[in-house]
Amino acid sequence: MAETPIDFLLSRRSVRFVEAPGPTDEELSLIFQAAVRAPDHGKLRPWRFALLRGDAIARLVDFAIASVNASDHPMRPEKEASTRRWLARVPVLIAVACRLDYSNPRIPEHERMLSTGAAVTHMLIAAHTLGYGAYWSTGLGTSNSEVAAALGFDPLDYRFMGYVTLGTPIDPPRPVIRPEWSEFVAQWTGPLT
Ligand SMILES: Cc1cc2nc3c(=O)[nH]c(=O)nc-3n(C[C@H](O)[C@H](O)[C@H](O)COP(=O)(O)O)c2cc1C
Repeated sequence: MAETPIDFLLSRRSVRFVEAPGPTDEELSLIFQAAVRAPDHGKLRPWRFALLRGDAIARLVDFAIASVNASDHPMRPEKEASTRRWLARVPVLIAVACRLDYSNPRIPEHERMLSTGAAVTHMLIAAHTLGYGAYWSTGLGTSNSEVAAALGFDPLDYRFMGYVTLGTPIDPPRPVIRPEWSEFVAQWTGPLT
């Protein structure tokens, strides 16, 4: 029986280890179209993305590792080596930021960030639908202001929210254990006393 859209959605999982080929320009356009359909209070459009492919990823890796290693929290050598090995095979990386934009004080900052998170979730689902592996991570200098600025996300105006890596899964999918949804849902029928 053909997989229905809901089966497909429920089968999404993060895939960290990917290789070329990555999404084509047309597929990236679909992934970004999905992103900009995220819920967005006040049409603030807070989501910002930097698209990196091939050599640009290698340049970011060198820059970010140098920057992190010059900071008070250098990477352990094993972590640096495993990060380099992982990202050397990744064909597409999207750095994600939220534009803080204080011109609209009615809508609080956390709603801009929630919208950006929703945009990323849409991207992860779109990538899964297109048959690619995708993974959101906040390593590689996400909390380092030099790295954020180098990607175009000046910390005064943006909150840098990590990276989405995209590509063809290297390994066959392994089963994932998901939580039982009912553990997180309470039926509410009126004010609690
Ligand atoms: C904002 C955010 C940042 C994340 N950063 C990392 C990270 O740096 N390293 C990591 O191992 N997982 C990170 N994760 C978790 C993975 O993206 C992923 O959700 C997790 O591996 C579980 O896989 P699943 O999405 O299939 O449930 C992050 C998730 C979110 C929402």
